[in-house]
Amino acid sequence: MRKLTNIVITGGAGFIGSNLIRYIFEKTDFSGKIINLDVLTYAGNPYSLDDIDKKFGGSQYFFEKADIRDRKAVDAILVKYDVDTIIHLAAESHVDRSITGPEEFITTNINGTFNLLEAAKNYWKDFEGKLFHHVSTDEVYGSLGDEGFFTEDTPYDPRSPYSAAKASSDHLVMAYFHTYGMPITMSNCSNNYGPYQFPEKLIPVMIENMLTEKALPVYGDGKNIRDWLYVEDHNSAVWTIVNNGKTGRTYNIGGENEWENIKLVNSLCEIVAKETGKELNYYKKLITFVKDRPGHDRRYAIDCSRIKKELDWKQTYSFDSGLSETVKWYLTERSWIENVKSGEYLKWMEENYSER
Ligand code: NAD
Ligand code: DAU
Repeated sequence: MRKLTNIVITGGAGFIGSNLIRYIFEKTDFSGKIINLDVLTYAGNPYSLDDIDKKFGGSQYFFEKADIRDRKAVDAILVKYDVDTIIHLAAESHVDRSITGPEEFITTNINGTFNLLEAAKNYWKDFEGKLFHHVSTDEVYGSLGDEGFFTEDTPYDPRSPYSAAKASSDHLVMAYFHTYGMPITMSNCSNNYGPYQFPEKLIPVMIENMLTEKALPVYGDGKNIRDWLYVEDHNSAVWTIVNNGKTGRTYNIGGENEWENIKLVNSLCEIVAKETGKELNYYKKLITFVKDRPGHDRRYAIDCSRIKKELDWKQTYSFDSGLSETVKWYLTERSWIENVKSGEYLKWMEENYSER
């Protein structure tokens, strides 16, 4: 088990990052410091960690508003907190946005990762007791047909500007291991869902639109398949790797839980109907098939036997329990939703969804 003391988590104000910080403080015995390094794009919200800030702020939890592309700012944070571990999540993360505006995906996901690697290499010099963990995606592997799974040996074949930029960052991270001996670990995970997910991704879009009686936009024929994992299970996997993973190694993480989009949307209608007491048809009639996403990957499926066998990790949430927890969270936390659904978010949704 590694000794982790001062951990920078980039993108800690986003969906997975904020859940990761909460997970570490609430579900592990970590006693060091966590520095949340986040520039607060439209997807970042410090409000997601209000409770953690109240309990641990100034002693174990610190927030630094900074851009991973800003080398001076990153250098200063590494020095200020004598950082020994970096868990890198900061990224532009939404495939649809990468289609309408790819530039930020290149500068943040590629240049930003390069900048962090350089800053860490320069600050650490001696790599003893250090770790750079890179959080990546199964989308780097491309698209599957009806059969088969992505393994860690599947050749990279990214299709969207988002996945191409993530693939590029994965290669850079691996290059720093091979070339400079930087201690790195990497994970490639399937689709996450759970609380604090920005309402532009499938599950929160559907829940929000049901609650506001808007059309539920299903892309194409609705038969694309994704593998879904509850965000806390992703984070327990990341924590397992950071503590016990072998350096230079990649671990796939997945839910072993494949769903066609249309079946998932129907299921969400049932859960929301049960929770709100409304007729099932009130929600189902909102389902609307819309123009497909360009280059829409057909199927993702993950073989995560490596992390299960080598690091003894497993999923703990069933899809039933995870989905109903998620629906209940979105029904209850209305102030979080109203907070994120202001300004920039609404503008983008209006511009991009009016055409569909
Ligand atoms: P998110 O969009 O919810 O959050 C991203 C965070 O990064 C935000 O807080 C944002 O402010 C911050 N950020 C963006 N650009 C930045 C910059 N230049 N400098 C500093 N901070 C910046 O994303 P997420 O869904 O939480 O994903 C987190 C990571 O996990 C990403 O690297 C993503 O590729 C990866 N991932 C996501 C999923 C998923 O299903 N959401 C699955 C596998 C992997
Ligand atoms: O697989 C991991 C990836 O999962 C992560 O790397 C990405 O950061 C994350 O955004 C997610 O990518 P997807 O493109 O799979 O997620 P999204 O929620 O955007 O879409 C899921 C599926 O639902 C996909 O087939 C497109 C479809 N969809 C999506 C939206 C937003 C719809 O049919 N309607 C919608 O409104």
